This record gives sequence, structure tokens and C-alpha cells, in this order.
Amino acid sequence: MTIPPLAPYPALRLRRLRQADWTRRLVRETTLTPSDLIWSMVVHEGEGKIPVASMPGVERLSVAEAAKAAVRARDLGIPAIAIFPHIDGARKDAAGSIAADPDGVIPRAVKAMKDAAPEVGIMCDVALDPFTDHGHDGVVEGGRILNDPTIERLIEQGLMQAEAGADILAPSDMMDGRVGALRSALEGAGFQDTLIMSYAAKYASAFYGPYRDAIGSAKLSAGQGDKKTYQMDPANTEEALREVALDIAEGADMIMVKPGMPYLDIVRRLVEEFRMPTYAFQVSGEYAMIKAAGMNGWIDEERAIFESLTAFKRAGAAGIISYFAPWAAEKLG
Ligand code: PBG
Repeated sequence: MTIPPLAPYPALRLRRLRQADWTRRLVRETTLTPSDLIWSMVVHEGEGKIPVASMPGVERLSVAEAAKAAVRARDLGIPAIAIFPHIDGARKDAAGSIAADPDGVIPRAVKAMKDAAPEVGIMCDVALDPFTDHGHDGVVEGGRILNDPTIERLIEQGLMQAEAGADILAPSDMMDGRVGALRSALEGAGFQDTLIMSYAAKYASAFYGPYRDAIGSAKLSAGQGDKKTYQMDPANTEEALREVALDIAEGADMIMVKPGMPYLDIVRRLVEEFRMPTYAFQVSGEYAMIKAAGMNGWIDEERAIFESLTAFKRAGAAGIISYFAPWAAEKLG
């Protein structure tokens, strides 16, 4: 688009439009509403609420508390909740054997939340890392993360989640081919309405740090200390386009960029290239940074939260997965 020639100063004074709250509201290009938010939530196997040390203000919720939170989300106008499991370390193993357990904390939480507030969409992470004792998202053999055997496990896990009533499955593992495999398994099992939100452009990031604490995920072991063989290199954009193109072709309904704020250029680019519902994940480290600086009085926390959430919308995101969701929705209400 070409911008028509601008009148020269002083005929044009852009500050005229900024002179008062009413003018600023009138020309505002982007608005944030509770409908833009997906509440990122950690559930645990025990009772009550347990604070997460590295994420002040975030608590792991029991199944009963998660059900109450679903009601709260409905009342706040938050359309969906993404749940992540904290699993007792003693029950983990190298294969992540209990990832598809139909009596696990995730399917129990999904059922309780859907019973309590059926109007709220529930999204489940499809990935093995909360359940493996090595902390990787895949089956490990001889120091390698095996792609295809991992997909088989993800299908079991995803079908179990759909069976429990999950509305959106969100494969976050970054194995090749998992969206297509999941889609055909869902169709084959009669779950034609189950949505897939692919973690399509997910980067190997330092910003997931506090999440490991939140879900109690194992420290990645020596020699396999990072996720760089499956998550993307933060330096890449073109590769994100290929990842996303593949996931769309394989049947993803929605795509996600993760982390969020350091990757707004990726959000914008994907929206422009693919015109798909595109979501940004404001991850645990982004939450922790804003919170820590706010608590120290180094930044105005409330303004920083709204500025960051608005920035995702401005970049073109259809919505934001965030730990700030209930707090922000409350303020917006
Ligand atoms: C696991 C998963 C991760 C997050 C969501 N799903 C961590 C990782 O990939 O290492 C991160 C969430 C956050 O940091 O808030 N596959």
C-alpha cells in the first residue's frame, strides 16, 4: 500500500491525534479483549494449589481447583484454557510410559473442567516431556531422539486426550509428521471435530526455563542437554515457513509461534504468508521477566503486561496463550 503524500509540518501535526484519551481511543488500531486469551495453566496430581517459585502469582492446581478455574474462565470471558501436567518424578521413566494413561491427571482435569464449564475450550499439550525421566519430548535411544517411535506414543496420548473430551490438541514436540499422523488417527477414531493447534514454529529457547520448574520436568541430562535437534534455531525464519506449510498441509487448524515476544516478526510473517489463525505463546520466561521486574519496582507491571499482550495482537496474532490471562481478563472486564 502506498501512503498518500503527507502534508508538511505544521499542517500535519501527528500529536493532534494524541492529545487526549478520547482521541487516542478513537484512532486506536488494536484492541485486546478476554476473547483473545488462552489461559495457560498447570495441573498437579495432589490436592489444593501450590505456588510455582519461579513464576510468582502462578499456582499448580489440583483437578478440583482446575474445574473451579474453568468456571472462572467462563465468567471472565476467556474462551479456552491450555493445561500442562506436573507429574511426580517417581512415576516417570525413559519411555514416558504414563503419558497416555486414561486415569492420569490430564484426562481427569479435562473431564472435571468440561463438566464444570462445558462452554470453555480445553487444550492439551501432546508431548512426552512431563512424563520422561530424561526430560526430552521424545523416545531416546543411544543419545538420539527418535522421530517415528515418538509419533506412535503421541498418537496414543492424543487419542486419550480426545477421548477425555479435549477440544484442542496441541502437539508441542516438534517431531516431523506428527500433525498428519494425529489428524488421521483422530479421523479414524471418529473425532472429526477435535482441533489441532500445532506448535508449528517452536524455537529451542531459554525462555522455557520456569516452565521446567512449574511442571517439575527433569533436567536434561549430560550429552543431551538441549532440544536443538527438534526445536528450531532462534536464528531462522525461512525454516518456520516450511514447518508451518507442512503442518497446514497435514491438517492443522491453527498454528502457534513460541516463545512470543522475541518472535513477533515470525508471527507477522506467518499471518501474512498463510492467513491462518495464528497464536503466540507468551511463555514462562516472559511471564517471569515481567513479574520479577515489576515486583522489584523496575517496571510498571500492569502497563508492561498490557503492552506485551497488545503487541501480540498488533503483530497479527488471533490470540495469546498466557499465564497472565485470568489477571488480564479481570482487568479488562
Ligand atoms: C513441552 C512444552 C514446553 C512448553 C510447553 N510445552 C517446554 C519445552 O518445549 O521445552 C513451554 C511453556 C512455557 O515455557 O511456558 N513440549
